[in-house]
Amino acid sequence: MKKYNVGIIGATGAVGQEMIKILAERDFPIDELRLLASARSEGRVINTPFGEITVHETKDSSFDGLDIVLGAAENDTAIKFAPAIKAAGAVFVDNSSAFRLDENVPLVVPEINPEDALKHNGIIANPNCSTIITLVAINAINKLSKIDSLIASTYQATSGAGAAGPKEMFEESKLILEGRKDEIEPKVFQHQIAFNLIPQIGGFDEVGYSSEEMKLQNEGRKIMHLPELKVSCTCVRVPVERSHAISAIVVTEDHLEIDAVKEAIANAPGAKLFDDGANKVYPMPIVTSNQDIVYVGRIRKDLVHENGINLWCCGDQVRKGAATNAVQIAELLIK
Ligand code: A2P
Repeated sequence: MKKYNVGIIGATGAVGQEMIKILAERDFPIDELRLLASARSEGRVINTPFGEITVHETKDSSFDGLDIVLGAAENDTAIKFAPAIKAAGAVFVDNSSAFRLDENVPLVVPEINPEDALKHNGIIANPNCSTIITLVAINAINKLSKIDSLIASTYQATSGAGAAGPKEMFEESKLILEGRKDEIEPKVFQHQIAFNLIPQIGGFDEVGYSSEEMKLQNEGRKIMHLPELKVSCTCVRVPVERSHAISAIVVTEDHLEIDAVKEAIANAPGAKLFDDGANKVYPMPIVTSNQDIVYVGRIRKDLVHENGINLWCCGDQVRKGAATNAVQIAELLIK
């Protein structure tokens, strides 16, 4: 079996660390795994399932001999190194938002549009975490009847802001429980996140939507091949360590029966029907963390839109919302 040389930019971060684990879990055929990060991490040795690997500073010369580079760093880093990755002949599977809406770059959720991955020109973008989780939950509905619009609220865990997010939440919680609330100084989030909710993820546009909120519409249109999809979204940071949750009203062209929707979701790849309210069974972050399936529950008829379905879904955004989805894209490349 052919083996591949794989690099990870941002290998020391929350998503990069998870990528290493997932490559091993899924038996990705690796010859060399090259771990790259910022100059701060140069020389750091990481113990991985592939052995001890020394991290190096990412430079234009870092990509020689690589087949695939997984990006787990910010936009500026992705933009800076994309030309060198392409010049080295590697395919860049990038988790930043830098290239997601570029018409020459496929934006892929393997359960939904795997065929798009093979149309790449050296870069494939990994979608936004809440977008991946929501679309895996609702794709089966779109197959029953075209989705016209989506009204959603997200409940996004602190680890979505990187490894520093949960750390800030736990440190603030400790200060509050010790009666030292005055010492809280938020750095990662705009406000105290412990025992709080923050209705801002990213900056706001001129009509008041945050950048995170617009991703669900803009990326959703591209992934689902629904150029006219309308989305109205509110994104909220919640004091949860891991797993994003989304409340969504899905409005379809045709009227759908709830039982048919449940059956379609139960059979959808990557999704799990988890819906038995009478027995307190519904998706929650403590149930869906550290695994790759998107759980869907609370499925019911919307009381406002005639063709609306109301549901709640939840998934591990570090895994399926980022690292696992990127590794699945890499798997499509070597099939
Ligand atoms: P480093 O640990 O050296 O700072 P997180 O999302 O958890 O905050 O992680 C961000 C990741 O992106 C880390 O691995 C970080 O490396 C990496 N990173 C940050 N800046 C750069 C850069 N200029 N070049 C390469 N990697 C970077």
